[in-house]
Amino acid sequence: MTADFQSWAGHCQVSIETLLGSRLPASDVVPVRLHQAMRYAVLGGGKRVRPLLAFAAGELGQADSERVVVVAAAVELIHAYSLVHDDMPCMDNDVLRRGKPTCHVEFDEATALLTGDSLQTLAFELLSEKNLADDAATQLGMIKQLAGASGSRGMAGGQAFDLDNVGKMLALPELEFMHIHKTGALIRAAVMMGAQCSNYLSEAQLEKLDHFAKCVGLAFQVVDDLLDAEATTATLGKTAGKDAENNKPTYVSIMGIREARERAEKLQQDADQILSEFGDSALRLRQVTDFIIKRKF
Ligand code: IPE
Ligand code: IPE
Ligand code: MG
Ligand code: MG
Ligand code: MG
Repeated sequence: MTADFQSWAGHCQVSIETLLGSRLPASDVVPVRLHQAMRYAVLGGGKRVRPLLAFAAGELGQADSERVVVVAAAVELIHAYSLVHDDMPCMDNDVLRRGKPTCHVEFDEATALLTGDSLQTLAFELLSEKNLADDAATQLGMIKQLAGASGSRGMAGGQAFDLDNVGKMLALPELEFMHIHKTGALIRAAVMMGAQCSNYLSEAQLEKLDHFAKCVGLAFQVVDDLLDAEATTATLGKTAGKDAENNKPTYVSIMGIREARERAEKLQQDADQILSEFGDSALRLRQVTDFIIKRKF
């Protein structure tokens, strides 16, 4: 990671944290326990990869960063909600997230459920309260995109597929289907919504960007599977080895560590190939992709 990328990413992370901190209800506002849990689940942790992708795509599309940060926050809120629910006993039953007790452990299950619900609706509140695109139709399209990426044809659907297949040996296309939905959909939305904060890119360019985002979205979850098998709980900030323990079909369980790593690298090459058509203006997207593939947590 270059110093230049580190400083750019740090700047994006501060601006997203500031917006989220100001838009999440204060922890002394009633109902206090719910608002505390919402802040607990969102603030002060996470790599903020989806916001970074939104910012990088926003730069490619020459979009106003004041707009992009709102879109980035909305996607991060949906992501944080998905993590709170993913960790609950009815799903992955995890006790550690971002180096802290999971939301249902720190609070309780009912609060965790409502935290997820409330983060999800806050995301859409943010997206609908001010101009985030050059025209209303584009902004409506962005809201629709996030809704689709989050629901039963996107993240939630992928999560359902994940739970349905515990203990099963999936064929590669099925595993890919699962990953594209549970993780890829939201990553794709982050990229596309960031880019659409301005009308600068053509339809053809947006289509290329979408293809890039599909590659990165899948690569992200392949690396998540690898890290679960290879990294330690201390570096991950979440319990390592949980996929094997929970009998989850993953890239590692289906093709082994070496092939899974090769698959992630091939997806990075595909992603870079698409970005090469954008020249230097895609520098940040290239850097975020590299960070996603090489990350240690
Ligand atoms: C973890 O996502 C869950 C997946 C979708 C694989 P991240 O690895 O982005 O988690 P944080 O936000 O950095 O904690
Ligand atoms: C989670 O996938 C995907 C979503 C939260 C939508 P995982 O279950 O693999 O994520 P981690 O490993 O618990 O972060
Ligand atoms: Mg899961
Ligand atoms: Mg999980
Ligand atoms: Mg995982």
